Formats: sequence, C-alpha cells, structure tokens
Amino acid sequence: GAPVTVDISGLETGARLVNEWRGQPIWIVKRSPEIIKTLPMLDSRLRDPKSDNKDQQPAYITGELRSIKPEISVLVGLCTHLGCSPEMKAEIRPEPFDPEWKGGYFCPCHKSRFDMAGRVFQGVPAPTNLVVPPHYYEDDNTIVIG
Ligand code: FES
Repeated sequence: GAPVTVDISGLETGARLVNEWRGQPIWIVKRSPEIIKTLPMLDSRLRDPKSDNKDQQPAYITGELRSIKPEISVLVGLCTHLGCSPEMKAEIRPEPFDPEWKGGYFCPCHKSRFDMAGRVFQGVPAPTNLVVPPHYYEDDNTIVIG
C-alpha cells in the first residue's frame, strides 16, 4: 500500500489519532511527560522491555519509548495475540484492579495488557509487543507511515 501522511499539529497530550495503512489501524498517541517518565519503571514487569524482538519494530526504533520523538508513539492498533483491538487506558485502571498499572492498552478479548509504548506485560496471552510500523517525520508536524 501507499504511504499515509498524517498531520499531527492538532494532536493534544493524551489524545490519539487513528489512521489506516495497509488495512491496519495506525495509532499516533501523544504521551505526557509523566507517562514518559514512568515507562522505564515498568521494565521488570514486561516481556520484552528493550524491544529486543526485531520483528516488532523497524531497526531505528529502539529502547523503552519505542519512538522517534519521546512524546509521539506510533503503533499498529492490533493485539499481537489474536488481533483484537486493544482499548487505550491512559488513566483508567483495568479490572482486576492492579495498583502498579500506569496506563496503557488493554485488550478486552483475553485481557492482554501493554504499556504506553506498546510493550507487553508478562503473564498475558499476547506473546510480543505491539508493532511499530515504519514511519518518519516529513517535518515537525507531519508523519509519513510506510
Ligand atoms: Fe488480545 Fe487475545 S486478542 S488478548
């Protein structure tokens, strides 16, 4: 499929833009400084905290934030278990109550959980982190997916 160009100039902190690329939902989320700070604190509870599984992101996406700019996360919005659509829970804690939940994505199909970088938690059915699609910045407010 052709690349998809997205204008993110109106994207506010905590909000998400949903686009489509190659028949897949693409999420662009603007993370708060607080979220960015908490992400490294979750590492011990995650399956692949440093994005070692190279199938789940392009080579230029490394580390805990899994993004080109710290605040902007770009993800394929499909659960890596069986492809359901996870819900974004930036503030809300999922059931059952988990005092360590710092927000992220919650898949209602079989309760997989991911953090705000799309990194999968341990002990859930999803085997891998959410996919980061190939993308780049054409300018400060323009992302090209693909
Ligand atoms: Fe998401 Fe099964 S499809 S947990």
